[in-house]
Amino acid sequence: MLLPRRTSKAWSPVNVHVEVVDPRNVPRLLRWNGILRDGFAVGRRHVWSRSDEATCAQFREPHPTRVAVLLLAEIDGVPVGAAEGHVRPGEPADVEIAVLEGFRRQGVGGALLNALRARLRSVATVMRAETYSDAGVDFARSEGLTVGIREGRQVLGLPLSAHALAALGSAPADVDLLSWSGRCPEKVVESWALLRSRMADEVPMGDLTRTAVSAEVEAVRRNEQRMHDQGYTLVRSLARVEGEAVGYTEILLSRADPEIAFQDDTFVEQHVRGRGIGRALKSANLRQLMRLPESADSRFVQTYTSLTNEPMLALNRSFGFEDIDVLTILEGPLEESS
Ligand SMILES: CC(C)(COP(=O)(O)OP(=O)(O)OC[C@H]1O[C@@H](n2cnc3c(N)ncnc32)[C@H](O)[C@@H]1OP(=O)(O)O)[C@@H](O)C(=O)NCCC(=O)NCCS
Repeated sequence: MLLPRRTSKAWSPVNVHVEVVDPRNVPRLLRWNGILRDGFAVGRRHVWSRSDEATCAQFREPHPTRVAVLLLAEIDGVPVGAAEGHVRPGEPADVEIAVLEGFRRQGVGGALLNALRARLRSVATVMRAETYSDAGVDFARSEGLTVGIREGRQVLGLPLSAHALAALGSAPADVDLLSWSGRCPEKVVESWALLRSRMADEVPMGDLTRTAVSAEVEAVRRNEQRMHDQGYTLVRSLARVEGEAVGYTEILLSRADPEIAFQDDTFVEQHVRGRGIGRALKSANLRQLMRLPESADSRFVQTYTSLTNEPMLALNRSFGFEDIDVLTILEGPLEESS
């Protein structure tokens, strides 16, 4: 497919050829992943991007209900940009677009976005894009998206020394903490499912569309199975007060990308906030992480927190997390307004 520069903006002489990547074509898939990785890494430090092994694992077992579109842009047969779109029917489409540094401002990003739009319009009406750069924000705005939320990316070096581990907080006396790795124990899975859904209802989302997370145990079990199949170890802690589950936290460890651990959700119920339960949960989970043989090669843990969520940013800093950069998530109509 030969795509001319979109008509709503200035004409460009560059002929950008955008092609759909079939993920079963592994060399092509890895080429695509490399362009996406390099395009997103420009000018950033402590960058993590999905490894080739993790990419293969992800696309070997396509998600049963999610539509995925992979695109590669070439100029004269040379790959210069890549895009990825994912959508669950009824939800906003998540799109990523990256253009190699020497090929920007020639319409490549616009051509990729046009092609994504064409392929996603039957399954989504809203799209969401992520960027770490001013160029990315300007680009997305020029395409009709508006800033939905800004999140600080924070990183903590691993392994934690014995001294650092000893300095981590302990739980308030009436808080019972449970830590494990892998599937939720049967006795807490219902609480876990409920808290996970409460987190989705309450986590700061800025102006982004909020999507609900099922509170059903089967949804938790399906997610655990899928993560396990993709080589993830789930490192989890749950807090209870007088038998009631009031908070949880989770870190993900990928076998394919062992050097980075991902701090995922942390949630504490409103009525028990401000009592040190978040700190106790994170401390317990970091201790659990350091005990696991799977974390032997982990060199840092990475987390994202809304810039409006000062309590969590401050809590992370008190653990030694360093502010690295800011992720801007923009949202807008999938169809370009003419
Ligand atoms: C964002 C990115 C994909 C843009 O790719 P690109 O090929 O340079 O974009 P285009 O040439 O199609 O630009 C389209 C329009 O976006 C806007 N734009 C793009 N880069 C811009 C910049 N650095 N400053 C201001 N406006 C910019 C302009 O309106 C431009 O139209 P114009 O050139 O006619 O003025 C590229 O900079 C990139 O890969 N950044 C890192 C990855 C990233 O942040 N991706 C997220 C995108 S939401």
